[in-house]
Amino acid sequence: MTHTLYSPLDMHLHLRDSAMLQTVAPLSAQSFSGGLIMPNLVPPVSTISGVLEYQQRIKEATKNETFEPLMTLFFRSDYTREFLQQASLHVKALKLYPSGITTNSEGGVASMDVEVLRPVLQAMSDLGLVLCVHGETNGFVMDREKEFCNIYEDLASAFPKLKIIMEHITTCESVALLDKYENLYATITLHHLLITLDDVVGGMLKPHLFCKPIAKRYEDKEALLHVALQAHPKVMFGSDSAPHPISKKECCGCAAGVFTSPIALQALAELFDKHNALASLQSFVSNNAQAIYAYTPPFKEVVLVKVPYRVPNSYGDVVPMFADETLAWSIQSVR
Ligand code: DOR
Ligand code: ZN
Repeated sequence: MTHTLYSPLDMHLHLRDSAMLQTVAPLSAQSFSGGLIMPNLVPPVSTISGVLEYQQRIKEATKNETFEPLMTLFFRSDYTREFLQQASLHVKALKLYPSGITTNSEGGVASMDVEVLRPVLQAMSDLGLVLCVHGETNGFVMDREKEFCNIYEDLASAFPKLKIIMEHITTCESVALLDKYENLYATITLHHLLITLDDVVGGMLKPHLFCKPIAKRYEDKEALLHVALQAHPKVMFGSDSAPHPISKKECCGCAAGVFTSPIALQALAELFDKHNALASLQSFVSNNAQAIYAYTPPFKEVVLVKVPYRVPNSYGDVVPMFADETLAWSIQSVR
């Protein structure tokens, strides 16, 4: 049994830089035709030259494959309209991190007050730039995303023409917002469709499943599955594949992030097949994102086949999700 996908897109991807970029970027480029690249480098990508130089390094690292890196800019509340107008020629979106909320987000916004953010958000809305948001407060870890829903509602109402992507949603409350506000959309990761907090800390601690936002409850996972498996037109696949070297994961003070990009399509095929939903996978991994971002990716044809795939125990010094386990689907060919 085979299933063919056309131009799969990963609309939330961490490729890092330097040696890590060289390790992970080709792995995404092998099976995806493009990805929305997160700007949380050290220092963050917050200038136009920074965007263009980073894009060039990604293109260089992926030059043997067809892969288009769609760039983002690290959100700052003091950008001018003139700067954003120039930036809009080179980036699709700005990524907003509340300060200190996750990996390399220290330079993020200190206040989520709509009035503080208004000049930049109004300019983005006028310029057609998309706002991608890491939506967590600094409250109790299981409630951070739920508590952020009020902020999503304030932003969506204050800027009705601004497309707002609730990144890597993990709760039923976020899912409910999709149908309440026309301008709210979401990415969903592979891991949040598969695991709950129980998988992370319920038995032996699993550092390679530790990420932000943390995986939630069974009913949250079910709500995510419900919209992903029917490819609700306002959701799209964004892996949030976030590689860290093994020394930063298997240690005291484990970094947040699950590395999924090389196994994402195989695992998604297995999941959608299990739920008799393979017919929705094309929309979830490409067509919805194309519509939301008004973007046509380069052509790529990925043939998946229901033949077991043994996941390697590592790629360089990064451990993937399902390391040393066997998935039910493999990639048969890419052209
Ligand atoms: O788990 C995560 N890792 N969540 C994020 O928001 C950032 C990411 C990273 O960059 O490592
Ligand atoms: Zn991320």
